[in-house]
Amino acid sequence: MTMQLIDQFNRKVDYIRVSVTDRCDFRCVYCMSEKMTFLSKSAVLSLEEIERVIKVFSELGIKKVRLTGGEPLVRKGIDKLFQSIGKIKALDEITLTTNGSQLQSKAQMLKDSGVERINISLDSLNPFTFKKLTRTGDLNKVLDGIHAAIKVGFKKIKLNTVLMKKLNEEELYDLVDYAIKYYLDISFIEEMPLGETIYDRQSTSVNNNDILLKLKEKYSLSKTDISTGGPAAYFSIKNTQTKVGLISPHSHNFCENCNRVRITCKGELFLCLGHDTKIELMPLIRLNPNNDEPLKEAIINSMAIKPKSHNFNLADEQPSVVRFMSHTGG
Ligand code: 5AD
Ligand code: SF4
Repeated sequence: MTMQLIDQFNRKVDYIRVSVTDRCDFRCVYCMSEKMTFLSKSAVLSLEEIERVIKVFSELGIKKVRLTGGEPLVRKGIDKLFQSIGKIKALDEITLTTNGSQLQSKAQMLKDSGVERINISLDSLNPFTFKKLTRTGDLNKVLDGIHAAIKVGFKKIKLNTVLMKKLNEEELYDLVDYAIKYYLDISFIEEMPLGETIYDRQSTSVNNNDILLKLKEKYSLSKTDISTGGPAAYFSIKNTQTKVGLISPHSHNFCENCNRVRITCKGELFLCLGHDTKIELMPLIRLNPNNDEPLKEAIINSMAIKPKSHNFNLADEQPSVVRFMSHTGG
């Protein structure tokens, strides 16, 4: 019998999101400031340490792992990590969130390692808007990456889009039509109050209820009962292969079905995206190189402090959690 992680509210945790690096080749305006200082090598878990953490979680009943960042595919040696966690039998699913910039060269490796679904961020189909939003990104490189992924034949590719007023808001239909054309899914993520207050988020944040109304003007949608244990509602678009997700961290309450925890590249185990409640795994890993028990015990005990729900509030002057997405992992 494998162990199961059950928290104090009787929620089963079987999904981890692991940020493998805080670095990224993009500087998206809602995620990073223009000048970022990144962590030094010794401050982040080595790839071997990440593999060990994932292995330990798999022994505790974790079935699904998502690698995030930063941009996971810019980390040197990442191929080896995918290949080794691909061999962990207890895992049902390994997924990835990527900005797509490296997919041209990495798509085949991912597929060969057993990755079946990937999420690719795509906020604009206009090269100038794309540049403005990502500051350093090259749209064509990302589109080539998406097409390389399509060619490799993943089971599912989902686009992730953050719509912002006066920036890419008008591209809603273009982006959905692009997804339909290439048989992709697409999710719209409401901007979350993470990181420093770089600008006034309330003036840029687009509400998913408004997006839904607009979508209904053009497409025939039917609500699906797909649940990933996260803050998303999914609709299928009639006569297409495409599903549209609306991810609304502040509009809706989803916490009662939460099935996940997050591990940062520094080895912090965050029990909720909206709280600072965390456990430092790095010392347990480094002080016990040959003994997983202390690490296991800490993870099991952490279930007692997993918060009941988040409390994001865009109207707060300070974000409730001062943490960059690239640090915690999306
Ligand atoms: N709010 C909402 N989404 C964000 N992302 C990064 N930072 C934020 C934020 N503050 C998105 C990225 C990517 C996904 C992993 O998270 O665009 O698609
Ligand atoms: Fe990089 Fe993703 Fe953050 Fe953009 S949102 S800067 S792609 S980690």
